[in-house]
Amino acid sequence: MLFFKRKKNTGDFSALATDMHSHLIPGVDDGAENMEDSLSMIEALAELGFNRLFTTPHSMQGLHPNTKSTLVTGYQLIKSKLPNGITLELSSEYYLDEHFDHLVNTQQLLLLPGQRLLIEFSQVIRPYALEESLFGLAIKGYQVVLAHPERYLFLHKNFDDYFRLKDMGVEFQVNALSLTDHYGKNIRAIAEKLTDHKLVDFIGTDIHRIQQIDLLKKVPSSRYYAKLLESGLLKNNSLSL
Ligand SMILES: [Fe+2]
Repeated sequence: MLFFKRKKNTGDFSALATDMHSHLIPGVDDGAENMEDSLSMIEALAELGFNRLFTTPHSMQGLHPNTKSTLVTGYQLIKSKLPNGITLELSSEYYLDEHFDHLVNTQQLLLLPGQRLLIEFSQVIRPYALEESLFGLAIKGYQVVLAHPERYLFLHKNFDDYFRLKDMGVEFQVNALSLTDHYGKNIRAIAEKLTDHKLVDFIGTDIHRIQQIDLLKKVPSSRYYAKLLESGLLKNNSLSL
């Protein structure tokens, strides 16, 4: 039998300690624009209680066609300037498209611990053959983590689809700011409903810019952040094992 350690809400993010979704590499996507930006965000995340960050720049055909080689130089540069007490690892947020298929087929993926793959897709239109794609990834031994499930509008009307995805083994990473009204009240309502149904595996900041730090500060005092911590189901800490 598994016992989940319940975490104490200390008013910051130290109970989570690990953030597994952030856009901290300068100039490779719509996140940090320069090194100064990047280091300010990292310092601010450390002040919020995080001590381990996985940065996950977008890999997306057309807009941000990143590969390991486009990301690693910026990553190494930040690593050499990190403040004390915080570690930074490199992964990516993969949009389900042909660029992603190529990276899968040529085994060029930047995984999170546990063979985990952070994925996203259109927020409006259900991707073609979604279940088949996810099944194909599971067959290859990847543990799919769906980034911000609460933000996919086409899933809102079909809440049962969330259960179906979970039944297929997909893990859900809710954005911390979805526990506030940052993305809108409907997104917050879905994040809360996912919490109520015990479907949430991870919280991530999905931070793109320094201005989001002030918004993130409000999250630890929110009722649903406390509820998620108390659920004992969050796996953020398991990424540090
Ligand atoms: Fe993201």
